Amino acid sequence: MEIKVVQNAKTIEADILVVNKFEGENTTNELANKYAVEQDNFKGKFGETYLLPTYGNEVYRKVLVLGLGKKEEFSPNKMREAVAKAIKKAMQMEAKKVAFSLNGIEFDYSEQFAMGAFIADYAFDKYKTEKRDNKVKEVFVEANEELVRKAEKIAAAMAFTRNLANEPAQFATPAELANIACDFGLDTKIYDREECEKMGMGAFLAVGRGSAEEPKFIHMKYSCENPKKKIAIVGKGITFDSGGLDIKPASSMLTMKDDMSGAACVLGIMSIIKEFHPQVEVHGIIAACENMPGGKAYKPGDILTAKNGKTIEIDNTDAEGRLTLADALCYACELGVDEVIDLATLTGACMVALGSNAAGIMGNDEELIKNLINTAERNGERYWQLPLWEEYFDSLKSDVADMKNSGLRWGGASAAGVFLQKFVKDVKWAHIDIAGVAFLDKPQKELIKGASGAGVRTLINYILEA
Ligand code: BES
Ligand code: MN
Ligand code: ZN
Repeated sequence: MEIKVVQNAKTIEADILVVNKFEGENTTNELANKYAVEQDNFKGKFGETYLLPTYGNEVYRKVLVLGLGKKEEFSPNKMREAVAKAIKKAMQMEAKKVAFSLNGIEFDYSEQFAMGAFIADYAFDKYKTEKRDNKVKEVFVEANEELVRKAEKIAAAMAFTRNLANEPAQFATPAELANIACDFGLDTKIYDREECEKMGMGAFLAVGRGSAEEPKFIHMKYSCENPKKKIAIVGKGITFDSGGLDIKPASSMLTMKDDMSGAACVLGIMSIIKEFHPQVEVHGIIAACENMPGGKAYKPGDILTAKNGKTIEIDNTDAEGRLTLADALCYACELGVDEVIDLATLTGACMVALGSNAAGIMGNDEELIKNLINTAERNGERYWQLPLWEEYFDSLKSDVADMKNSGLRWGGASAAGVFLQKFVKDVKWAHIDIAGVAFLDKPQKELIKGASGAGVRTLINYILEA
């Protein structure tokens, strides 16, 4: 889909002209006012639509009246959602050209307008042998060109991330993630198993031992002159989480190809970062492996030594993400960056707490957390802070090692957080648990079911606003 910025959307020979309607106000379109508003009493409640034909009397074939709700409650977030609705409607009708004539909406809404259109345009149909071509080809809108182009890049990164997380685990292997990371023209280093051993990554390597797939540790670096700050983004990269020897029940395993959604987010961001040339040094870090119960698999009761020398007793092989992140966080903290942000489909507990409506966020720096929550809110994501009290470590105490990798079920998201904190040193750190939001089991706002691209829009904007 392409978005074209035009002077006057009403002059476009489109399949659909979309006009907006706020509750209690008229539209700028006479047909819409006469038929939708006067005759049919169309109120324009948020998300409602009303379609009318033009019978060849206008250059556009149909008018779609798009309800935007009460004007005083309207916001860029609502703009994005409403546009997505209109695009979905256009797709149902197999419209190819859609023009938007938006009245009374400010030009700085252009970014979320374009995000809504591009996000709604996403489909994962590469394995369908019979494809239905119901995509909108061209969108015409009176808007701010620069903001539309910015949104286009962010949405492309999101689509990249969604494609990767939707990709079956048989293809999206650790080696494949490593290959992809090498394609971005960044300063990239891939460490294989032996090199990870030399670095002392005993926690990460243990998780990958039960799999036939080789683990890969990925480090991408975007640099610039005189960076305003240095950020490392760490993504959980379990390309498939069977649970290991503490194997998951079938129903819980069904979506576990998505357990590399954090990694997919990091790759999405790094795929586009050069095009933004931000004045920030950005490191993308992924400890990629597969959690399988093969003959060499790590076992409950095993004691591992992480990169920072701390020992971990295995309580449950299904609490694997924190083990891979432990070594990845140690590595990130040695880079001399100002901030480390990790994204991980880490705990079912976070999903129980917040559902698919918000990611959990915790960390050691309130300002960093507040900034991320705020950036998320402005860009269509929700982060909700969970506590990181040291008491959560009580259930992770081990009789034989420095800690266990799991303990009580209760408070599981925070317990995982305090576990990770043991591997963070001298740096501002935020941990974002995206277990509930990364992979949707039903459509949600502008997103279809499946991979959501969680974290991409927030973190790109966070980097750009540094
Ligand atoms: N990848 C899962 C967490 C998860 C669950 C992500 C559901 C997305 C949807 C993680 O590795 C895991 O298995 N966590 C366990 C931890 C437990 C054994 C302490 C969990 O949450 O049950
Ligand atoms: Mn697991
Ligand atoms: Zn996992």
